[in-house]
Amino acid sequence: MNVHDSEKMSGIFAESGCSQSDDINKADVIVLNTCSIREKAEQKFYSKLGRLRKIKENRPELKIAVAGCIAQQKGDALFKSFPYVDFVFGPNNIDNLQNWIKDRSRITENRAQTTGLHTEISNNGSHITALQDNPDYHNMILPIKREGQVRAWVSIMYGCDNYCAYCVVPYTRGRERSRPVNDIYHEVMSLADWGCREITLLGQNVNSYGRKSSNNIDFTELLVKLHEVKGIERIRFVTSHPRDFSEKLIGAIKDLPKVCEHLHLPIQSGSDRVLELMNRGYTGKEYREKIDLLRQAVPEIAITTDIIVGFPGEREEDFQDTLNAMSDIGYDGIFAFKYSKRPHTKALALDGHIDDKIKSERLSTVLALQEDITHRKNKGHEGSIVEVLVEGLSENNPERLTGRTRTNKIVNFHGIETCTGNLLNIRVLEAKQHSLYGEKA
Ligand code: 5AD
Ligand code: SF4
Repeated sequence: MNVHDSEKMSGIFAESGCSQSDDINKADVIVLNTCSIREKAEQKFYSKLGRLRKIKENRPELKIAVAGCIAQQKGDALFKSFPYVDFVFGPNNIDNLQNWIKDRSRITENRAQTTGLHTEISNNGSHITALQDNPDYHNMILPIKREGQVRAWVSIMYGCDNYCAYCVVPYTRGRERSRPVNDIYHEVMSLADWGCREITLLGQNVNSYGRKSSNNIDFTELLVKLHEVKGIERIRFVTSHPRDFSEKLIGAIKDLPKVCEHLHLPIQSGSDRVLELMNRGYTGKEYREKIDLLRQAVPEIAITTDIIVGFPGEREEDFQDTLNAMSDIGYDGIFAFKYSKRPHTKALALDGHIDDKIKSERLSTVLALQEDITHRKNKGHEGSIVEVLVEGLSENNPERLTGRTRTNKIVNFHGIETCTGNLLNIRVLEAKQHSLYGEKA
């Protein structure tokens, strides 16, 4: 989500006639787009921002902006600790970047479109903020400068109404709002014209797309509509909420050939007690029943998940339930995190906060178990032929090309760069821990 927000910021800069610098010491403007999902992400930002002080001392004309969830959360308070920050704007105020750039007379001729855009910014001396709830943000069409051409992110909704007990997102990204179906459709059409082959639909809870809007099409119907777009070969989506993951959607994954055989379905915990404390709205049994139905309908489906260890009140037996769920379900990959205290969240007030040492031990246990499962799963692919969408040269080894299978596994292979954007059949020769290695079949 943040990477795509950064693409929107880059798009606004590009439309305003600015170009991206690859040298931080030469930049006229530095934007830090921040994440506050866990404390660690926040700490990374503070140390980065601290290091900018020196650069600004040497070049007072430099402008520094802080964007994203920490900006939203801390607001004006950021100026107190970091007076050299000039502009603070939240995730639903990215459009305000246009006005801020326009006001920076140093920056070349302004070509920002301002028509119809939200222009409320508050100016307190040289410190400017744009943090207000922006009920129209989901109706805006912002310029986007994408990182790659073959695959693209497409926002379909913003915010979240779920209030999982550990999660700060509803407080930073605001209420759930779906983008109009026609805006999404036109974006995908122009992506296809531009040469994009794969789209990933983005939202905190894509399964509830359209629930609150008057255009009245639901997520499955949105998939059917986007499936029509010629040139787009693959459709993915993140993130699904297990409570809202429906049989109708299982049917769409099965019946729509462009919808890839991969589902990211965060379980968070295998314990019903903990799931209840987390306010997740499903039990382990309900979760597994949905996975069973999905696997019956789409046997080749790859399933990945998110897991939190050490949530307040998590006992040894609850943790064991998580390990059991992992073994039984056999995920293709996981993202696992130690529970991290977040401002405003309900979990702060729960009893039984867990010692960091125990959290670390549990995290290591989870990661070690998953290494085994992933390795076993990847080994199972050796000798098989997989369809790969070629993304370009591998960053780690420029003599190789890289791409992904429909099940979202990374495949590296020898080939020529002109294959970029093509679908190739690759024979898997060797399973590595986090990727597959192969050759053209
Ligand atoms: N502590 C640890 N992990 C968290 N996540 C969200 N909030 C927290 C938190 N406070 C994890 C969840 C979510 C993923 C994006 O981040 O697993 O699915
Ligand atoms: Fe956070 Fe839960 Fe919303 Fe996901 S569904 S963004 S975990 S509150």
